Amino acid sequence: MAEKELGTVVSTPDGPSPAALDFVVTSGVLHRGQFVELDYSEGTMIALVTDVIKTNRYFERADSVKEFEANGSALFEQFPTSEWEYLIAKTRPLGVFSDNLTKRATYPPSPGTKVRLAAKENLTKFLHFDTEHGLELGQVDHHDLPVKLNMSALLKKHLAILALSGAGKSYLTSVLFEELLDRKKEAGRIATIVLDPHGEYSSFAEPVLDKSKTDYSSRTKIVKAHEIQIGVPKLSVGILSGIIPGLSSPQKRDLGKIISKLRAEMKSGLGPFDLHDVLDTLNSTPEIKENTKVALGGWIVSLMELNLFGKTDSPPISDLLKSGNLTIIDLGDVINTKKKQIIVSYFAQRLFYERRRKTIPPFLLVLEEAHQFVPEKAGKDSAICRSIIRTIAREGRKFGASLCLISQRPVQLDTTALSQCNTHIILRITNPYDLKHIGESSEGLDSKSIEMITSLRVGEALLVGEATHYPLFFKVRKRKSQESRHEISLEQAAVDFERNSSEKDDETRELL
Ligand SMILES: Nc1ncnc2c1ncn2[C@@H]1O[C@H](COP(=O)(O)OP(=O)(O)OP(=O)(O)O)[C@@H](O)[C@H]1O
Ligand SMILES: [Mg+2]
Repeated sequence: MAEKELGTVVSTPDGPSPAALDFVVTSGVLHRGQFVELDYSEGTMIALVTDVIKTNRYFERADSVKEFEANGSALFEQFPTSEWEYLIAKTRPLGVFSDNLTKRATYPPSPGTKVRLAAKENLTKFLHFDTEHGLELGQVDHHDLPVKLNMSALLKKHLAILALSGAGKSYLTSVLFEELLDRKKEAGRIATIVLDPHGEYSSFAEPVLDKSKTDYSSRTKIVKAHEIQIGVPKLSVGILSGIIPGLSSPQKRDLGKIISKLRAEMKSGLGPFDLHDVLDTLNSTPEIKENTKVALGGWIVSLMELNLFGKTDSPPISDLLKSGNLTIIDLGDVINTKKKQIIVSYFAQRLFYERRRKTIPPFLLVLEEAHQFVPEKAGKDSAICRSIIRTIAREGRKFGASLCLISQRPVQLDTTALSQCNTHIILRITNPYDLKHIGESSEGLDSKSIEMITSLRVGEALLVGEATHYPLFFKVRKRKSQESRHEISLEQAAVDFERNSSEKDDETRELL
């Protein structure tokens, strides 16, 4: 069914052209971000409204308006000004659509062509929505059309979610988790694992009290940082030299020899080994030079101090992921940055390795605060995870290992990893440096869309990239799961603190 007519294409100094098209609105209202369509020689042209301008020729000249109004008479009393007020919509033609195929417009439509609101069925096809099994993240603004994104198109070549703090990144990510958890087996279910530095997703693992919310606790597993133990026998020299940046080649060679020796002993029945065994073997191997012993020994002791390494993996990586389930690695209690980096790097390395061997299901690895783990400019310690995340970003799609990088500081996020994320979802951002960085790393974003990002409100998003092929503004849907209780107001934190300290005072008094 053809939609209602909205207006007529007008001639302007720079349009209509294949890149810009203005029309005067003859009926109804129109909003920025809406899609319109018009008949075109080769099918239906779809265009995005990038601006709506109200104009009135009576008010065009500031000097005349001032002169007139200064004399005590209002313009609108003397002239039919309201009849001359009209809306001009500025649009960007996105493409031409015919027989389910889309292509770029290379020729302008004629002035005088009628413009309609884009029909839902055209938009669904144009934006490549997967109406059957798509992940429903929200609604196309002003179109009452659910945004249903094909899982492969959204995740296979990685996703980045970028926005200011508090703009709704974690909320949107929770909506994505719900969609992944609710997927039917026949539609293809992947495992989801989130490395969560602030414990923002732990509410998924808690039973719900509010009956209107969906309970995902039976499909969610939470691993607290203090429960994590990294099995030293599983650490290859490659992983170790990632963890201890700056090892020289001879040091790596010597460390490799020690690990091989301990592994051989393990196979011969001596059982698994830990860092103490590595240190003992280092000190008791006469061929290793004294200065290498000192350097390697120092590093091994510093790793021991992290209280992270043991004889076996706990929990075992192979038990961690399950199709259609969510695993949360809660790093909320870890203060030591290096420890956080090592945990993230280790999980990323092992997951990628196991996925290549197909011992675990295809997965989505979600990295919150990604700029901390995959920084653009990195010192030795902060680069621990960068190379494995870059590797997954580059090669993961071949193996069903997908990444979702979340960051409130895109400018600090590694350009190599970011540019491998073929879909970007951008929520509100105002920092000009971040906007410039996004403009450079998101293909298909023009200056108008970048300008629109600054005016997005909480829960409004712009999607660019592989998932829809065209920039799409949408409203994130309401979540079904309960919200995390980690974020309380400053007032509430102050009340809680005073209550707790007065209770403690009472207890002390009772004891005395
Ligand atoms: N789509 C939405 N609908 C309703 N409320 C939302 C929506 N998105 C975000 N909010 C609310 O806004 C607040 C901030 O959202 P959220 O925690 O997702 O931000 P964030 O971008 O992850 O911030 P940070 O960078 O600090 O982690 C939350 O209280 C959340 O409930
Ligand atoms: Mg967040």
